[in-house]
Amino acid sequence: MKDEGANAPVYQAVLLPSGRRFSARGDRPLLLSAADAGFALASSCRNGTCRACLRPLHSGAVRYRIPWPGLLPEEKASGGWVLPCVAFPEGDVVLGD
Ligand code: FES
Repeated sequence: MKDEGANAPVYQAVLLPSGRRFSARGDRPLLLSAADAGFALASSCRNGTCRACLRPLHSGAVRYRIPWPGLLPEEKASGGWVLPCVAFPEGDVVLGD
């Protein structure tokens, strides 16, 4: 969906193995949506470069608005890793806790 702002889609995110859940807006980085729900995920730079927030993406898809050097080409190609500080959900997602 391309609507953003007040009309941004809201998806469900699940953290495994804890099973913690939070709502994730399509126009907000996953890290911030998790923080909104009271889940402080590991992070540092918050701009996609340090990899402190790197975690597995078990299912779902994300998009990035910036070219970011923090994810290796093979990690990006596999689709199995995510940088939540700069990743916007494109649907429901399941992440490593
Ligand atoms: S916090 Fe540095 S890459 Fe996400």
